[in-house]
Amino acid sequence: MKKVLVTGGAGFIGSNFIHYLLEHDPAVQIINLDALTYAGSLENLKDLPDPDRHVFVHGNITGRELLDQLFVEHKIDTVINFAAETHVDRSIHSPGIFVDTNVVGTYTLLEAARRAWLVDQIVPLEEVRFHHVSTDEVFGTLTRDEPPFEEDTPYAPRSPYAAAKASSDHFVRAYNITFGLPISISNCSNNYGPRQFPEKLIPLMVLNAFNGKPLPVYGDGMQIRDWLYVDDHCDAIIRIVKNGRDGETYCVGGDNQPPNIEIVKNICEILDELRPESAHCPHENLISYVADRPGHDRRYDIDITKIENELGWKPSHDLRQGLVDTVKWYLDNPEWVRAIVQQSDYDSWVQTNYTGRKA
Ligand code: NAD
Ligand code: TYD
Repeated sequence: MKKVLVTGGAGFIGSNFIHYLLEHDPAVQIINLDALTYAGSLENLKDLPDPDRHVFVHGNITGRELLDQLFVEHKIDTVINFAAETHVDRSIHSPGIFVDTNVVGTYTLLEAARRAWLVDQIVPLEEVRFHHVSTDEVFGTLTRDEPPFEEDTPYAPRSPYAAAKASSDHFVRAYNITFGLPISISNCSNNYGPRQFPEKLIPLMVLNAFNGKPLPVYGDGMQIRDWLYVDDHCDAIIRIVKNGRDGETYCVGGDNQPPNIEIVKNICEILDELRPESAHCPHENLISYVADRPGHDRRYDIDITKIENELGWKPSHDLRQGLVDTVKWYLDNPEWVRAIVQQSDYDSWVQTNYTGRKA
């Protein structure tokens, strides 16, 4: 892992990963390819530790020629594929782009890796790895009593986002089995932490509550996600890429499964404590139940036994402390919030998404 092509490194997890990797690996060089969609921002790459070891390239993972050029020019030995369309609600609204980026983009990246590593052999094969960052949503939904997802749980995606990610996972495994491309896959639960685009549950609730706007809880708010602090995810990926077995999948989860409504109430309490002078206290009064998301997955839960036994990884962040740190980060970074919201279609999306959705 010397010359790493990180895709989607201007997004939430990718940018946290770049910060984390530069801090923890003194030798690595990073080439960060990102299309800067609404979800990506150069603001996320400010204040990188040791920025000389990071090169930003503005481009698309569906761009075959650019990919070929990057592999050869930088002698890439590792790919970590974060680039994706990631928001379930947007995938319900406009599924096509999810196929373009998540399926066709991943296929195009696999082809570039195959040409560079297996055909042209630009670096020794024993030094290469294509790591694909995926989601637990490919496994579908759990009822209250079903056991957690594990690596051999059958795929059963239910949203266009999950279906596109599932398809990309299948392509990655197929390139390993058919062509011998060295790969690994991580299927991870919901991440939270700094720099997450404020369309996802936690940052959306923090910013809406702070600004005295309604907090839209879908359905009965009793859906369950397995929350993982983003740095724990970054640590898991590095362990998998460095020491995980070729061709393997690893499930990564946070071991924190409160219902959504509890997360929202926690955020409200934290804001009450941090901003007792706010006119919006108690922030809980802003909670507004809205119509449910179509096909809404009820419960996710992840069994982390494999990664714990093989790679000694387990999450180290406590949910309450992680939430306090996250809320503080958004309050302490109003410039980031302003820049992100201004550069994107944030307001028009939130309007489209919630207008007329009263429960
Ligand atoms: P994000 O939406 O915050 O960022 C995605 C990044 O990819 C953005 O910077 C965007 O500009 C870039 N991008 C999009 N399309 C591109 C394209 N065609 N070419 C190049 N770049 C493109 O996403 P995230 O939350 O950081 O998620 C990163 C990865 O982790 C995704 O693959 C996602 O499926 C996976 N994942 C996310 C979570 C989560 O909770 N956020 C959980 C499990 C897995
Ligand atoms: P989200 O952050 O969109 O992640 P995902 O759908 O990939 O799990 O949503 C997390 C949970 O929060 C999910 O059950 C949907 C719910 N949710 C709301 O209740 N209100 C909201 O405004 C959002 C964005 C999500």
